[in-house]
Amino acid sequence: MSTEVGVLMGGRSAERDVSLVTGNSICSALLERDVDAVTVDTAGDWRSEMLRKKVDVAFIALHGRGGEDGTIQGALELMDIPYTGSGVLASALAMDKIQTKRILDACGIPTAPYVSMGPGDYDHEINMPFPVVVKPSREGSTIGISIVREKGTLKKAIRDAARHDPYVLIESFVPGEEYTVGILNGKPLAVVQIVTANGFYDYETKYVTGADEYRVPAPLDPEMTELVRSTGLETSHALRCSGAVRVDLRGQDGNFKVLEVNTIPGMTPTSLLPKSAQGMGIDFQSLVLEMLKTAGEGSK
Ligand SMILES: Nc1ncnc2c1ncn2[C@@H]1O[C@H](COP(=O)(O)OP(=O)(O)O)[C@@H](O)[C@H]1O
Ligand SMILES: [Mg+2]
Repeated sequence: MSTEVGVLMGGRSAERDVSLVTGNSICSALLERDVDAVTVDTAGDWRSEMLRKKVDVAFIALHGRGGEDGTIQGALELMDIPYTGSGVLASALAMDKIQTKRILDACGIPTAPYVSMGPGDYDHEINMPFPVVVKPSREGSTIGISIVREKGTLKKAIRDAARHDPYVLIESFVPGEEYTVGILNGKPLAVVQIVTANGFYDYETKYVTGADEYRVPAPLDPEMTELVRSTGLETSHALRCSGAVRVDLRGQDGNFKVLEVNTIPGMTPTSLLPKSAQGMGIDFQSLVLEMLKTAGEGSK
């Protein structure tokens, strides 16, 4: 009897639309490589749908809350259904940018200086030079993020971020270029440099227009390339990630800061993980098959 892969996608997070594109791309790739696969939208009664469709392995293609944050992973553990990617702990940690920074700080992995705020703290004065970047701790796709250049607009940015998550991260602006590196089954892939007109990788750029340019491999000398790749790998180990992960960084002149970790990287036509894999000669379908191999690994 062959294995039926259920591609879990959609859901109810702010990144639902992106997840549907990611999920459909993954499902097509599996079918093209003769793997039996069906899609399951987790906005509905996905448990019954999985039973009805006789799904025995879950390929998680969800972004944001209820998919990338450990909750679906926990449900699948209890249902005894093997699933792709990171386990409960790594998923929950990586979803939360403040907790991620605390772990990375403890492990000596460079991140930008920051202040965290929770309910009741929003009016506290901060003692940080501008510009700063204000983000909801648990969100993605640049939703709720603003760059604040002067004190007068800080309160509004905090309120905007707090609409998405009561926990708000205020981080020093990291000058330099924007990079990302994929990690696949414990090995770093190629470093991608993202070039945008305004230097801010926002939602529109991510999914509508695409960046002005993606440089793969990034134009860094070999030593700097290895630094970014090893920082990405250490970051993924520090959070106990598995499967395919993408680590976002910014910086210049050997001073790179980790911005965040994506445990379910986008797999849309403009997405970065496929570019990072392509830089190592791994095509989209092969990447999807490698990701599928991580389902049911005992060490999550
Ligand atoms: N500290 C920072 N300095 C400069 N730019 C930042 C900083 N933090 C985030 N950004 C910009 O915002 C984008 C999204 O931030 P990120 O932390 O990766 O969150 P997410 O992708 O989960 O929304 C980054 O790709 C970058 O362009
Ligand atoms: Mg990011």
